[in-house]
Amino acid sequence: MESQTVFYELKVNGKTYRVDDVEPRMLLADVLRDVLGLTGTHLGCEHGVCGACTVLLDGLPARSCLMFGIQVQGHEITTVEGLAPDTARRFLGRTRSAMRILYIRHTHNHVMVPEAKPRTNSR
Ligand code: FES
Repeated sequence: MESQTVFYELKVNGKTYRVDDVEPRMLLADVLRDVLGLTGTHLGCEHGVCGACTVLLDGLPARSCLMFGIQVQGHEITTVEGLAPDTARRFLGRTRSAMRILYIRHTHNHVMVPEAKPRTNSR
């Protein structure tokens, strides 16, 4: 059976990208990393637990391993690459040692969440 592919646009870090010829079931984290080359988003548990894949979706933290890329069309996505250069540079270096990768995975959630908009109670 031949798999179906789709195309759509995503707005990431203020720039509009065309995502072309991908399967609709492709996770947002995989789209960011493998299609757009934004490798600052990492995958750890892939179950929504560790936070390594956290991005900001319309300013609020979201696990990119739990949603499809096609689901977030029309939303503003911010990855670690879209943060202030000084903040991102601290966590993304050229060194890719196993220790550094583990450090990045475990600190990624702590980098992205403080950048999120404060939640308001709308009740
Ligand atoms: S990879 Fe662990 S929460 Fe997404």
